Amino acid sequence: MWITRSQAPAADTARAIAAAAGVLRAAQRVVVATGAGMSCESGIPTFRDALTGLWARYDPEELATEAAFRRHPARVFGWYAWRRRLVRAATPHPGYHALVALERFVPELVIVTQNVDGLHRRAGSRRVVELHGSLDRFSCVDARHPFPAAAAPEPAEDTECEPPSCPECGAPVRPDVVWFGETLPAQATAEAWDLAASCQAMLVVGTSGLVQPAAQLPFIARDGGATVIEVNPDPTDVSAAAHIICRGPAGVVLPALVAALTEGAAT
Ligand code: APR
Repeated sequence: MWITRSQAPAADTARAIAAAAGVLRAAQRVVVATGAGMSCESGIPTFRDALTGLWARYDPEELATEAAFRRHPARVFGWYAWRRRLVRAATPHPGYHALVALERFVPELVIVTQNVDGLHRRAGSRRVVELHGSLDRFSCVDARHPFPAAAAPEPAEDTECEPPSCPECGAPVRPDVVWFGETLPAQATAEAWDLAASCQAMLVVGTSGLVQPAAQLPFIARDGGATVIEVNPDPTDVSAAAHIICRGPAGVVLPALVAALTEGAAT
């Protein structure tokens, strides 16, 4: 679903934002867990929305598994090249800049994202843990030897595209994202789980809470004693774990949250 920005949050959302600002003001360590909804207002389609045009006839399982890549490398590599172009044409919306500004109010703020678009880093967030990898990194499919992004082919059109070969072993090169059936990167996962268990507040933005294991993070934070704050226009599976729910799009709620913190700091 795509939600466009409106001028100001609704009254009950404004009350929730004020409560969230109070929690964040008192927290030492804050985790911001983000999902596909974080990028909607930057015009980046969610995984399923990205199955349009040339790609509409495929299931995600035909484009985002190792087996699919080995069967149809040019198809899968071409789809990711197209998604990379969409991301490059997008710019971070005000919610991203609000998360950068939030670093001024919190001693330790870490973003843990399921997104592979790199928008948090582009906006300037300093600590970002990428749970599902990145569209901007590549490695070979057999040994996972790293491959330089600058050498990855980029077709100008929405088309299939043969992947390059690994200079070390000759295996086809794939995007460094987590595909269906694959485990998450060990270091990022360990870091995210530790942070969730030890933070005082977790902001959960734009995730349905349906994709495991990332969906566990709000529940781990809650079990560890953190206050869980959800930012989402719609109810989700995360809502059950949330102490404070800010119903609204990230591009409205997050700037309003920073404004509330700024006002609090000035009084
Ligand atoms: N602001 C905040 N949230 C929004 C907005 C918005 N403007 N627009 C939509 N949302 C919410 C939706 O209500 C939904 O709850 O974003 C959520 C998106 O849910 P999913 O598409 O399921 O995204 P996510 O939870 O990140 O799971 C997707 O699965 O396809 C794999 O690896 C891929 O990381 C991806 C994950």
